[in-house]
Amino acid sequence: MAKLMAANWKMYKTRTDACETLTALCALLQQSPMAQEREVLIFSPFTAIAEAVKVVEQCGNGIQLSLGAQNFYPAVEGAFTGEISPAMLKDVGATWVLVGHSERRHVFGESLSLVQDKTAYALEQGFNVVFCVGESLEEREAGKLEAILTQQLASLASLKEKLNAQNFAIAYEPVWAIGTGKVAGEQEILEAHAIVRKILQNIFSEKGSQLRILYGGSVKPDNAAAIVALDNVDGVLVGGASLQAESFARIVTA
Ligand code: PGA
Repeated sequence: MAKLMAANWKMYKTRTDACETLTALCALLQQSPMAQEREVLIFSPFTAIAEAVKVVEQCGNGIQLSLGAQNFYPAVEGAFTGEISPAMLKDVGATWVLVGHSERRHVFGESLSLVQDKTAYALEQGFNVVFCVGESLEEREAGKLEAILTQQLASLASLKEKLNAQNFAIAYEPVWAIGTGKVAGEQEILEAHAIVRKILQNIFSEKGSQLRILYGGSVKPDNAAAIVALDNVDGVLVGGASLQAESFARIVTA
């Protein structure tokens, strides 16, 4: 399967900024034969999705580019002040959602059970999902890497029938490497991705070998090629370095 190269724009970019970045990204990707071998995904702020979709639709030239939302609430509609429903996201053209990002878990207190409900709901509504997992520095230093990953991935067992290698990917993002400039070392990435792979195979048997596992945490144009070449690394999830078209284009084609 194609490597999945995903951008998480977090709380950055107005509509104009988003469309300008996407237009420039598209032009850069069209110049690179490698870009056609990648699946590219942008998790945009809600307010830019509707207009960004128009830019994506015009990209063409064999570039597989999709748009996703960074968050949603798992309900059809209702008295959930400030929330966005999957139906609203579908309405503006998003096809992917991000679930379980460490900023949602740690800054906004999303529990394992909310992350599980959101994942199940998004799949039911026909969305593709990037499901994030990762340990804090404290957990790593306490030797709890495997236990934390096992705990975070356990909820997927109930979704066996609903998810597959096209509509679902895991992103391993060590919390201590997100936005800190401290990329995990190659050995650390290899070790964690092998653990995630083993857990997925335990849960899903054969399908566990096919699900894509992305690495996230301080991915930059200079380290992307080495990271995507590692065993069990099937793409990346990029925050800071995805905000500039040129920087993200270099990562996509690394
Ligand atoms: P970063 O963010 O690339 O800025 O470290 C990654 C993420 O939060 O997904």
